[in-house]
Amino acid sequence: MKDPETVPGPLPGALDLGSCDAGSLNGSSRDGPSLAGPEVIDLHPAPADMERLVIEGLSREPKQLPAWFLYDDEGSRLFELICEQPEYSLTRTETALLEREAPAIAAALGQGVLVEFGAGSARKVGPLLDAMARQAAPATHPSPSAPPEQPAYVALDISASHLQEACDRLQRRHPQVPMLGICCDYSQLEALPSHPLLNGQAHLGFFPGSSLGNFEPSAAQELLAQFRRLLGPGGKLLIGIDQPKSRERLEAAYNDQAGVSAAFARNLLNRLNRDLAGDFNPQAFRYRARWQAAESRIEMALVSDGPQRVQLAGQSWTFASGEALITETSAKYTAEAFLALAAPAGWQGAARWSDPDHDLCLHLLVQAD
Ligand SMILES: C[S@@+](CC[C@H](N)C(=O)[O-])C[C@H]1O[C@@H](n2cnc3c(N)ncnc32)[C@H](O)[C@@H]1O
Repeated sequence: MKDPETVPGPLPGALDLGSCDAGSLNGSSRDGPSLAGPEVIDLHPAPADMERLVIEGLSREPKQLPAWFLYDDEGSRLFELICEQPEYSLTRTETALLEREAPAIAAALGQGVLVEFGAGSARKVGPLLDAMARQAAPATHPSPSAPPEQPAYVALDISASHLQEACDRLQRRHPQVPMLGICCDYSQLEALPSHPLLNGQAHLGFFPGSSLGNFEPSAAQELLAQFRRLLGPGGKLLIGIDQPKSRERLEAAYNDQAGVSAAFARNLLNRLNRDLAGDFNPQAFRYRARWQAAESRIEMALVSDGPQRVQLAGQSWTFASGEALITETSAKYTAEAFLALAAPAGWQGAARWSDPDHDLCLHLLVQAD
């Protein structure tokens, strides 16, 4: 992980964030909004860490890289397109649920700084920010001596340019909300940076998109424990969890007819070629999404069309015919299974909201002790 004050230069395809400094705001502040976009602190994994992770991942059997490698600029753009595909309903369902339940969720969350993990385009958080602001408005809290604080917002994401654009767009829509971006791998962050926006108020985690499903169960549990550490005492976590569904529906959702999911997976190889001096031929792999009932997860993979040898990160890698490089898995949890996973990480369910078809559940977790 890079030290924010000694960042040598931008990664290929990343923003030049060299002027960022963890101790100051250049966009918005607790005293009011500014016309400049929100500050984004660059804690992106360094190239040497990326290379180590790729070598580890390609040495595994089966070969698999951390899902965040899918999200360079182009990967983030393609993910936005996936969200618009008719087969992929998760985003539409979760957005509608958040819009409908925002007042109740804001009341249950209470006051604090919303910290979104893997914010992406940050399009889901708007109704929550509005509902939290209404809750803090003097009309509902007539005591001028101690008015509740307005919400603030911190977005964490691995995809640097996309994060900056998302923060800029959100700031234009919510000019009164102080905001900060942090470009990082949230699973490896030791602590939230010391920053005025993060001092004082409770930290309210927001983790939509069912992204927890991208982690193997033991890693998912560790991530939930990590979020608890990052959010600190009194922190809460609002998390969106996709429910198990029929094989047909899920395989279609992750292998849309327009081929956007396949392009998203193949873009991983383009990214590796560019960032780690590789010579993958993305067309020599076919895309596969299959439901694995025993693990209650969908597995996405690029399957080698024939035997091939690929150069990457200074090494030679062989692929047998039919061998898979797993690009991503997405586990689906019933409410009960999810709460059982969260309990050893120190979380307990305080409330939950679901859409009319029970496709997705938004859980509000509080700390168990
Ligand atoms: C499935 S998308 C979800 C985006 C958005 N939260 C939503 O619900 O639509 C996952 C997002 O998390 C980011 N991401 C994935 N793994 C990450 C990691 N380890 N650390 C930080 N960001 C990550 C990706 O860049 C992407 O924007």
